Amino acid sequence: MPRSCPFGPPPQYAQVRREAPISRVTLQDGKQAWLITGHAFAREFLSSDKISSNRANPGFPQLVPGVASVPLKGTIVAMDPPEHSQHRRMITNEFTVKRVKQMRPAIQRITDRSIDEMLAGPRPADLVEALSLPVPSLVICELLGVPYADRGQFQGRTKVILSRNSTSEQRRDTALWLRQYINGLVVGKETEPGEDLLSRLIDKYRGIDAYDRETLTGIGLLLLVGGHETTANMISLSAASLLDDPELLAGLRERPERTPQLVEELLRFHSIVDNATSRVVVEDFELDGITFRAGDGVIVAAAAASHDPDVFERPDQIDVDRGARHHLAFGFGIHQCLGQNLARLELEIVLNTLFARIPDLTLADPVERLPFKSDALVYGIHRLPVTW
Ligand code: HEM
Repeated sequence: MPRSCPFGPPPQYAQVRREAPISRVTLQDGKQAWLITGHAFAREFLSSDKISSNRANPGFPQLVPGVASVPLKGTIVAMDPPEHSQHRRMITNEFTVKRVKQMRPAIQRITDRSIDEMLAGPRPADLVEALSLPVPSLVICELLGVPYADRGQFQGRTKVILSRNSTSEQRRDTALWLRQYINGLVVGKETEPGEDLLSRLIDKYRGIDAYDRETLTGIGLLLLVGGHETTANMISLSAASLLDDPELLAGLRERPERTPQLVEELLRFHSIVDNATSRVVVEDFELDGITFRAGDGVIVAAAAASHDPDVFERPDQIDVDRGARHHLAFGFGIHQCLGQNLARLELEIVLNTLFARIPDLTLADPVERLPFKSDALVYGIHRLPVTW
């Protein structure tokens, strides 16, 4: 569905939701699936224990035909209980508000350094290259305990995966390189643990006699894949939204202590991983008088649910004071984003620092000319030229 405003979701979502918040759609591969666009039904559906995240199930909706692949071991986002709960329980402590807060100085340092480099370089600069991509990648390096000497290379490789100029061969080779790199990191930490997530997880899994190198490599890779592109696109879209709206930007400058609320509202408004919450039904059940049958594919459109006017008044306006916590940008239910506290903190630090340090930052190209990622699974902007 095409967007009429590059920042908001496709207007057809509102029409579909009005007609039927649970409707039938045909996917690109010709298969039928359910599309949920209503907020209440989305949450109820995602709370069910009769649904599965197993991509190998033939009923799982394939949004991009041909990309179904067998997930690596440790990819908890594609697991079901009880396996999912066992692994999630091991990792969840790493992402509590308290634990994430301890990362504040590191995130601030990474952000400041990226901005220093941008300021020292030519104008206009591409904010995606200068800030949106390096910050989340370097934060994940910090989290996983990637040695400083390797960070430049690690960050360069993660960029290849997300660049639209990369060929599919380059992407595949780079994904393999990253997997081998994380595997090597895990091997090193087995004998020489550090103060990082991978080392702590090795210890925890060993403590219950369930340590498996491949699973831990998969977890490391999932954190990289899940935390990089998403946060990077949210940084770019948030910065563009602010640069395009002087009133919103003035609000951020006057009340930087309200940035967490602004971030929450931007997360709701953009809900960039609109279709990440796809599922397949494994046991018949009813919702709103509709029977979901085992084998049915279901797509929960997070952006549509996060713009449901029954829950969010004037949903297409960015309203910092609305208290938008119950949006669906991070999903809902047992798979709700594990890294959400980290993503919130990164966004808060990046936005506050960027606009405090460069008060005269402006877009170098008008919004209409910005290359938005309308064809990608994670919405965002390919390039964001800025000047000051
Ligand atoms: C799961 C969005 C940042 C790690 C999810 C899901 C969504 C999401 C919608 C649910 C998928 C589902 O229901 O199948 C986002 C957005 C982010 C973000 C919008 C940034 C703005 C991060 C970060 C990390 C992370 C920074 C970690 C470094 C994960 C993991 C899962 C997940 C591990 C799977 C959880 C599970 O299956 O139990 N994310 N995410 N995410 N996210 Fe995020």
